[in-house]
Amino acid sequence: MKRWPPGRTRFGGLFHAGVLSLVLASGGVAAQEPAQPLDPESGLIKDEAGVWQTARDHCTECHSATLLQQNRTSRDGWIRTIRRMEKDEGLKPLGDLEKPILDYLVAQYGVQVKPTELRRRRAPLRQPPVADGE
Ligand code: HEC
Repeated sequence: MKRWPPGRTRFGGLFHAGVLSLVLASGGVAAQEPAQPLDPESGLIKDEAGVWQTARDHCTECHSATLLQQNRTSRDGWIRTIRRMEKDEGLKPLGDLEKPILDYLVAQYGVQVKPTELRRRRAPLRQPPVADGE
């Protein structure tokens, strides 16, 4: 089994900072996403409902939470990941815990672009040349 580097990855940090600054720049909605506390031991984001502890018990047994941070994805993506963990990696079926864990993963490690933000954020992808004519 591969060993993964502990702690936040450069990509994860940049991604987060990027989203935050875009949210701030788009004005007003930043309050919806306060900086969330990390559990220092597992590295998981602590949610208010405490589902992170369930996720910790089932998803950081074999690898660190860094993998979750690196693999931000949609709900479908997380379902596929869980299935793969079950089929190939030896995760025991989560049963009734699958739904809360899935909700937690999507909320904390989802793709953090809401359709309304998407409309506002689409423009920067095609910016005019930085140095026009120079
Ligand atoms: C029994 C051990 C085990 C458990 C439990 C486990 N994983 Fe994994 N997981 C692995 C291994 C091993 C890899 C690395 C596979 C590789 O390098 O190809 C991995 C890789 C990953 C990756 C990296 C992307 C990928 O698909 O390879 C993600 C994301 C992930 N796991 C999420 C989870 C989540 C979410 C849970 C809890 C629901 C979980 N894992 C539980 C063993 C486990």
